[in-house]
Formats: sequence, C-alpha cells, structure tokens
Amino acid sequence: MAWNMEEAIVYYKKQGAPADQSAVTALLREAQAEHGGTIPAYLVSTLAEALGVKESFLLAVIRRIPSLRLADTHCLEICAGPNCGRHAALAEAAEKLRSVKITVKFVPCMRMCGQGPNIRWDGKCYNHADEALLRQLTEKER
Ligand code: FES
Repeated sequence: MAWNMEEAIVYYKKQGAPADQSAVTALLREAQAEHGGTIPAYLVSTLAEALGVKESFLLAVIRRIPSLRLADTHCLEICAGPNCGRHAALAEAAEKLRSVKITVKFVPCMRMCGQGPNIRWDGKCYNHADEALLRQLTEKER
C-alpha cells in the first residue's frame, strides 16, 4: 500500500504523537523510508505543523536518533496518474533535473486531475505545470 502522509499523521496521533515520543519517532521513520532513506526538510515543517509542535522539536528528535537522517536535497514529485502522466515532455524535463541536490519521484494520481499536469516541489503543489515552471523552481539548484 502506498504511503499517505495525511493517513500516517492521523494514525500516529492516535498512537499518542506528539506527546508520546515513540509515536513521533515511528512517524519520522516512516517518512524517511518513504523518501528514500532521508527526511526532506520541507516535510519536517509539514509534520511539525500537522502535529502542532515546533519544527525545532522534530529536528531535535532527528538529531538525537542516529538512524534518522535529514535530507539536504529538494524533492520534485511528478504526478504519473492517468491524466498528468500523458505529458511526456514534462516527465522528460523532470528526469533531466535529477541531481545530487534534486530528488525526482514519479507519484500516483495527486487527485487534482482537472488542474493537471500537477507537480509538488518541496511539498508545495503546483497545477498546470510545464517545463518553464520546472526551470523556474529549480533554477537555483542546477
Ligand atoms: S492524474 Fe495527475 S492529479 Fe490525477
């Protein structure tokens, strides 16, 4: 089953997060596993907001647990759903952006099909994406 951040947050809140630090740690481990072995910085702020804690709290947990690692890369997610996935030029442009600083992932339908093609850059969604938008977002990292 594909990892869904919102469902994971709800689940670990029921398990006691953020008061129960083992639940917070388990959520961070899942986030890390889902993102290829490191936790993207943007996700830390998203999780902090969802859990109602300061980002510095989650960063402290990550620093204290050696197996948790913070990524220093940006994350570009490209919707590969049935509608967005038809835009081959966008996928090809995204592939060319893969680098040490940019992780590119093709993800299932983002459920905004009418506004596609859709992408997510460091956790923020962009609709009607095209190659010019990709260049604009990644300009500083190339
Ligand atoms: S196919 Fe991209 S949002 Fe559904």
